[in-house]
Amino acid sequence: MKTIMPEDAQIVHDIEQTFKTKYNSSPSLFCSPGRINLIGEHTDYNNGLVLPAAIDKYIILAIAPREDNEVHIFSQDYQDSYITSLTHIQVSGKLWPDYIMGVIDEIQKLDKKVRGVNIVFGGNIPQGAGLSSSAAVECATAYALNSLFGLDLNSLELAKISQAAENEFVGVKCGLMDQFASTFGKENKLIRLDCETYEYKYIPFDTNDYSLILFDTQVKHSLASSAYNERRQQCEYGVQLIQKHHPEVRSLRQASLEMLDKFVKPQDEITYNRCEYIVREIKRVEDSCIDLLGANYSQFGKRMFQTHAGLRDQYEVSCEELDFLVDHVKDYPEVLGARMMGGGFGGCTINLIENKAMDKIADNTAKAYSQTMGKSMKIYPVSIVDGTRMLIKKGE
Ligand code: GLA
Repeated sequence: MKTIMPEDAQIVHDIEQTFKTKYNSSPSLFCSPGRINLIGEHTDYNNGLVLPAAIDKYIILAIAPREDNEVHIFSQDYQDSYITSLTHIQVSGKLWPDYIMGVIDEIQKLDKKVRGVNIVFGGNIPQGAGLSSSAAVECATAYALNSLFGLDLNSLELAKISQAAENEFVGVKCGLMDQFASTFGKENKLIRLDCETYEYKYIPFDTNDYSLILFDTQVKHSLASSAYNERRQQCEYGVQLIQKHHPEVRSLRQASLEMLDKFVKPQDEITYNRCEYIVREIKRVEDSCIDLLGANYSQFGKRMFQTHAGLRDQYEVSCEELDFLVDHVKDYPEVLGARMMGGGFGGCTINLIENKAMDKIADNTAKAYSQTMGKSMKIYPVSIVDGTRMLIKKGE
């Protein structure tokens, strides 16, 4: 199992200390990683395939049960508290507590018994960068409550509870990818997840010559969540158009390019573009897994560029900052692939680059980004790690 790195060890220590000072007792400690996605973007809510992995950036959650029904939470990053009761769960009005309260709410809906808790949490997953820090908070909470109160929920149930918290309580209609990756992550493995059947396979990703690096645009355009929900609706509309002729088609997973040509294209060009991107992207994930299993990284890299083009031109969820970063790296022979990652309208690009050229390309890209876009870019080298887990049990 991947050990916690020194920088993370400091965060764990600080959170534990804050807990002891605030609540005058010792907590159990849990950690939950952020995620990247190699390929398969916007396919999760279309019952398609995705290929994410957990990364070495974490949310750390310290927790201990209380004798009463109250929930006391302290956010180390915001230096802010929130106190409520299990019998009065409602949206907080300040967002950060909602990821935790949403999970508690979902668990209570299942008639599982939890008691009050004291919590301190924080971490080093950059927020708003598309690395799923919110999913990590949800997954850490679900995992922690499950082990604290012996709720007997399995990992898939924990990931789904975390997704439901985001859908119902926070109000973002995301798919399962982020929560699944955070929960099921495995060191040096990608997760090929089938979002229709929840079957998953680990695909080895231990390249010696290439590494993954993220370039963070440091922008998050306000369109992001409304456009996300709109894309979902457009895909559902495409399915409805097909269903009139093929009632067996439940989602774009069962749709073919021929069906789109015949039944969607004549009705609505935009819907057609959205759906065509998805159908091709699902196939690209399948093909990518074959590339990766055969260690054909250059072929895989080409597919990353194709995904970016589809997200930019057909799905229309990119933005000029993301396009700039992908355009800038594409002519380096040492760059195998690059694309925008996650929901879009900001956040990071993911790049597969030869190790020997990594520093040079990262430096050049950062300079070019600041000269042309007038903004600074952040650089995150990432490694692939295990998913949500307990670090320290109270009393140990
Ligand atoms: C966000 C959502 C995920 C997924 C991606 C796009 O990260 O939370 O469920 O839809 O966007 O692939």
